[in-house]
Amino acid sequence: MEFNDFKEDFKAYPAVYAVADNYQICVLATCELMVWVEVGGECFYDESNGILRSSKLLHKVEVPRELLETAREYTVYYRKIIERKPYFTETEDVRSASFAFRPVEGDRLRIYHISDTHNKVETPVRAGMYFGESPDLLVLNGDIPNHSGKIEYFDAIHKIAGEITKGERPVVFSRGNHDTRGIYAEHIADYTPTDRGNSYYTFRVGDLWGIVLDCGEDKTDDHAEYGNTVCCSYFRKKETRFLEQVVRNAECEHAAEGVKRRVVICHVPFTHIHKPPFDIEQETYAYWSKLVREEIKPQIMLCGHLHQTSVNYPGEPFDDFGQACPVVIGGNPHLQLKKEQGIDRYEGAAIIWEGNRITVRFTDETGAVTGEETFDA
Ligand SMILES: [Fe+2]
Repeated sequence: MEFNDFKEDFKAYPAVYAVADNYQICVLATCELMVWVEVGGECFYDESNGILRSSKLLHKVEVPRELLETAREYTVYYRKIIERKPYFTETEDVRSASFAFRPVEGDRLRIYHISDTHNKVETPVRAGMYFGESPDLLVLNGDIPNHSGKIEYFDAIHKIAGEITKGERPVVFSRGNHDTRGIYAEHIADYTPTDRGNSYYTFRVGDLWGIVLDCGEDKTDDHAEYGNTVCCSYFRKKETRFLEQVVRNAECEHAAEGVKRRVVICHVPFTHIHKPPFDIEQETYAYWSKLVREEIKPQIMLCGHLHQTSVNYPGEPFDDFGQACPVVIGGNPHLQLKKEQGIDRYEGAAIIWEGNRITVRFTDETGAVTGEETFDA
């Protein structure tokens, strides 16, 4: 089946998110249906304790990483619900669509980084096609929807991922501080890839190991904006325990066999002290920076949040807690330009990592290069 048939029933191509030791294949349906995925002759289901899910339009199917990387293709099967009843539920016939999958491999790794799109889809997608085809790895680094006030706002995430990768390349998703706002924020695990509900996790694609960290909100929990609805301080404490566990488990994580490249992905650049009232959690962020610098030793850290494009080297004024490596801020939605002049612009970051050289090229929706830096990995 071609995507043209598939897209009657789905809003976008599938998106293949790397989480822990698996890929989570997400498809965004237009109607009530049930989904399963076949990889290498084995079927994996979107289910809840043996019950095929149909009540949510986003379907997530977890498949083992090595199986998909070996098979290099997968088939999405689905069956539409006519009426779901306690007995004799009526459904349509099974339909399916197959997709190729190209894992991260080889010495040259091309990443495209997008953050802070704040609901924009079209210009970030055009920017993300900088390489003329999907990057080897797409990173969606927070604040992709403007907030989580409506379920359909999550669509922007999967539409950008599906449109750029066509379901054929891995994607990494990380939550931003605006994603924590709105009445559906507590349901993020139903609409985005997470590790058993946690928005922080490690992942592996080819020889690249990565950790997604999540600072949660950017102000203290008692800030009036949140109306007593957040406990991000508690959340960060749990995340600190997770980070310590990753460090203890190094041989299965960043020091595992075959790992040559290490990346830290976090919406908020926590190695920097932001101006008040955003200067929160200094002790926690100093400790995270120390663990990252002394134990994980990444060659690059990818961030967003500041609506700018810049490369910030260790020891520079931006480096308050001791960076392990250059920190790339790689997403500018030019919101002011849109508001004042109606011009839709978006800049993201194309990262070309070959051997021990990393080139960061900031590019816009026309493919124009707006800045470039190269450094040793
Ligand atoms: Fe942000």
